[in-house]
Amino acid sequence: MSYMQDEAVAQYCRFAWQENRFGVPNFPETCAKFAIEYMGDRPMRKALDVGCATGRSSFELARSFDEVTGIDFSTRFIMEAQRLKESGVLRYAVPEEGEIVSYREIRLNKFGLEHASKKVNFWQADACNLKPIFSGYDLVLAANLIDRLYDPRKFLESMASRIVPGGLLIVASPYSWSEQFTPKEKWLGGFKRDGENVTTLEGMKEILAKDFRLVETRDIEFVLQETARKHQHTVSEMSVWERR
Ligand SMILES: C[S@@+](CC[C@H](N)C(=O)[O-])C[C@H]1O[C@@H](n2cnc3c(N)ncnc32)[C@H](O)[C@@H]1O
Repeated sequence: MSYMQDEAVAQYCRFAWQENRFGVPNFPETCAKFAIEYMGDRPMRKALDVGCATGRSSFELARSFDEVTGIDFSTRFIMEAQRLKESGVLRYAVPEEGEIVSYREIRLNKFGLEHASKKVNFWQADACNLKPIFSGYDLVLAANLIDRLYDPRKFLESMASRIVPGGLLIVASPYSWSEQFTPKEKWLGGFKRDGENVTTLEGMKEILAKDFRLVETRDIEFVLQETARKHQHTVSEMSVWERR
């Protein structure tokens, strides 16, 4: 099997599958672990991982859920997630210094995920325009997604019809709004309205309050490694919402 040529996807592979950096736990693994903890004694039949990239959190959720669907807008990510599910192996090269790259390999069995992978399926889909078939979930996880969407409100508004009563919507985001991804008029927060600051958490509450109860928020750090010596350290806010 050859090494993946797609640099952006390879970078995400490193982020999703490599060991902790500077003592900060792996982000998608941590999100899935907390999601399972928050589920408590709720049924764990079906979960949806939106913006799943190469599928780390989808595979991790499948340790506890009967069935997990990972979706991503990017066909390139979904192809690699699917390849990993089918073959149990992914090989990729990441930049270390200038032209120098290092070669890495992911093996699902090294993570104890070879059985979980049978319960995961991956689809290319748009979070802001999901087909009705994506419904009936006990959990929807949207990790580091909302500030990358072209219409995050549309995504959040559709959640009530996709999650069963008593089920959870878990959103994690550093709220790094940028017009590169989201037109300013579509931002959920991070602006002033009538002279008052509107935070993204407040913006989400306005949209979700009718159908969801905010259970808890917590910070989850992550480190994104760019080269051997360059890293970005970020704090994402996880908010847990229970469908009424
Ligand atoms: C910052 S990454 C987060 C990946 C992963 N959830 C994590 O926490 O590491 C954002 C992901 O959202 C995906 N994405 C962006 N817009 C999307 C959309 N409209 N529908 C579904 N996925 C989308 C991107 O392709 C990318 O994989």
